[in-house]
Amino acid sequence: MRENTAIADATDPAQRFRRLTHLLAEYRSLWQPLPFQHRCLPWAAAYPALHAMLTGLDEASTARVETDPLAAEALAPWLPVAELRELSRLPEYPGNAPALPNTWGDHIGGRKWRQIQAFARCVPDTPRPLVEWCAGKGHLARTLSRLRGREVAGLEWHPGLCDQGQRLAAKQGATVALKAQDVMGDDAGQRLRAGDQVVALHACGDLHLALLRLAAQKGLAVTLAPCCYQRTAAERYRPLSRQGQRWAADSGLVLERDDLALAVQETVTAAPAVTRQRERANAWRLGFDLLQRDVRGLDEYLPVPSLAYGKMPGDFAGFCRWAAGQKGMSLPPEALARRDWEAAGRARFEDVKRLELVRHLFRRPLEVWLLLDRLMFLREAGLDASLSTFCRRELTPRNAVLHAAPRH
Ligand SMILES: C[S@@+](CC[C@H](N)C(=O)[O-])C[C@H]1O[C@@H](n2cnc3c(N)ncnc32)[C@H](O)[C@@H]1O
Repeated sequence: MRENTAIADATDPAQRFRRLTHLLAEYRSLWQPLPFQHRCLPWAAAYPALHAMLTGLDEASTARVETDPLAAEALAPWLPVAELRELSRLPEYPGNAPALPNTWGDHIGGRKWRQIQAFARCVPDTPRPLVEWCAGKGHLARTLSRLRGREVAGLEWHPGLCDQGQRLAAKQGATVALKAQDVMGDDAGQRLRAGDQVVALHACGDLHLALLRLAAQKGLAVTLAPCCYQRTAAERYRPLSRQGQRWAADSGLVLERDDLALAVQETVTAAPAVTRQRERANAWRLGFDLLQRDVRGLDEYLPVPSLAYGKMPGDFAGFCRWAAGQKGMSLPPEALARRDWEAAGRARFEDVKRLELVRHLFRRPLEVWLLLDRLMFLREAGLDASLSTFCRRELTPRNAVLHAAPRH
């Protein structure tokens, strides 16, 4: 049976989390393997029709599914597309972003400024002391200080960013106090008091986990847009919430750190030239991958370090010699001539792009699973907590916002 007609009660976070755990575990063999690393995917034999459908997709259909995999009926004969879509829906945070004076966005990149405007409206207007977590130059702190007409503190470990932020605030007449603080340090908690309102726009992996643990421990109010879940010291993901730990264990769902990267793996709309460079680099890497399997006589993926596009050799042969050098591999000249590896790499890249669509279908569901785990953790700690979106995905795909506040 493909489609589960009884879609779990999507309003109940725990039930949603439980159902998503089940689906992530049930379809793990499809979304976990990386097509880039597998010349022949482990699931191809079990799903020949799905594999044929994907590799047969034309460019336009591939782009369409890539843009919104959860709307892709093409995958529905094999995968629970409709249910994943329902379980991944997040409500929009109510209300509209106040149009803030554009001058408040001076010294802030256009996209970041629009994100800050959208995020600022989600910060509850209470008398609680405001603190920005991993503040950078304190762009959000400065905006909130001007919006609320009061001091906002900020914690950032990079003293240079604190200084720059302090100067910007002084120039703009905002009352901001940026403190150089390692938020992963044991003393970080001393900077916060029960009831403080801590705001964090795009705090990565362990940085936002540290905030959530402090919130649970100290009874903080939090407005957090998490990102980069894979930036964590733990090789294996252990759900934060007790319920999450139980259900993950029951379903046998084990997530490695690399799996978490799927949740944020989005092909951002880059300039055509950058897209061409990225696609050529990937096709060359796949061409080299086929070549190295042939030269070594080993049908096994060989990871090659990343290389900035600007530093890429001028041609494919040059790239292969560079990559072989990186791996301490000798590359006999006749091996390069044995086959048109560059064309083979291009053909493989087209397949990889299409086969990746299965993983991308689970991208947002996996992110929502991680978010629901954080939500349940905050509720288990006795905080009032909610999960919604603070802006459209086009502004940032990391558009989810967690709210928490002590119950009084
Ligand atoms: C993704 S940026 C976000 C900055 C800011 N919130 C923004 O939206 O522009 C993450 C910030 O966290 C800071 N950071 C990284 N690790 C940190 C740590 N252990 N303690 C404090 N700040 C840290 C970085 O220096 C960087 O400024």
